[in-house]
Amino acid sequence: MSVFEEAGELRKLWGGFWASRVLLTANNYRVFDYLIKPQPAKTISKKLKTDLRAAEILLDALTGIGLLKKNRDKYSNAPIAAKFLVRGSAYYQGDILRHADTLWQNWSELDEVIKTGKPARKAHDHEAFIMGMHNIASLKAVDVIRKIGMKGVKTALDLGGGPGTYSIEMAKRGVDVTLFDRPETVKIAKRVISNPSLFLPLNKGRIGGVNNINFIEGDFICDNIGRGYDLIFASQILHSLSEKDNLYLLKKCKRALNKRGRIVIQEFRLMKDRAHPAHSALFSVNMLVNTEGGRSYSADEMKNWLSKTGFKKAKEKLIGEAVIIQAFNL
Ligand SMILES: C[S@@+](CC[C@H](N)C(=O)[O-])C[C@H]1O[C@@H](n2cnc3c(N)ncnc32)[C@H](O)[C@@H]1O
Repeated sequence: MSVFEEAGELRKLWGGFWASRVLLTANNYRVFDYLIKPQPAKTISKKLKTDLRAAEILLDALTGIGLLKKNRDKYSNAPIAAKFLVRGSAYYQGDILRHADTLWQNWSELDEVIKTGKPARKAHDHEAFIMGMHNIASLKAVDVIRKIGMKGVKTALDLGGGPGTYSIEMAKRGVDVTLFDRPETVKIAKRVISNPSLFLPLNKGRIGGVNNINFIEGDFICDNIGRGYDLIFASQILHSLSEKDNLYLLKKCKRALNKRGRIVIQEFRLMKDRAHPAHSALFSVNMLVNTEGGRSYSADEMKNWLSKTGFKKAKEKLIGEAVIIQAFNL
């Protein structure tokens, strides 16, 4: 291998942002919505009101990275774009891309963040963030809730439940669910839960009748989270908090659970070395940039907190990239 080839890995790493930026910009212009049928660059440029040369260069780059197909002078969506990037698709992921675009702006401050240790959360689009959570959860909520199991669960708290994607899955199984989140999030969750079309294919034809979801608006650190729950589902919330706040929140959860109730935590999987998988280590950087004290945590760290706060029989299982940890209030 030549030394030039050897440096290829490095070029892939530093150049990774080119493909990312091209995708985010194409998503901002909704390029994929216009390429369900093959179209020449001229038509696309007219529809999107862009410069023609710029549109051609963007469409060629999207073709190069595998998101479009090009036949003579016409472009159309490759299967991955048709499935995930066209608005109205059952598997739509465009909102999480819009959220990634706001993260991009904050990540651009990373040099300064490393110096000060303080976040640089200048950009935030709350609707894109919460709908982005729905994009991701809707691809796996059925599987996650089935694997957690709702047997014997009459009441559940979806803590920091976001868009309510998991709440719906629990409610469909007859559980009375309370979704606790900030007022601005609850507003979006109510809209998502009342809009069946957003839940395809997750709930194909089965969404009607989910009326067993209650909402509590508040801050889960400062406010009362209610009590009398058989299960508390804490999905993707601990990573945004410091260790101290997590211990405080877990104690609160223990008090809110019924005797023999259980807490179920979902987080990204992180090895003890805190460096692998790479995605989770990079997610810690995301929390460094966007929160005061958050980062990815290993299963051992979280199990240790559960034991410190009095939970028993903590166990973990892996579901894809995520780790699920459950423990009991015995
Ligand atoms: C990453 S999202 C996870 C959403 C959902 N649980 C899921 O897994 O798809 C984190 C959620 O926690 C909520 N959240 C963050 N801090 C909160 C706080 N202090 N009090 C209440 N909700 C909070 C956010 O509004 C957001 O809905």
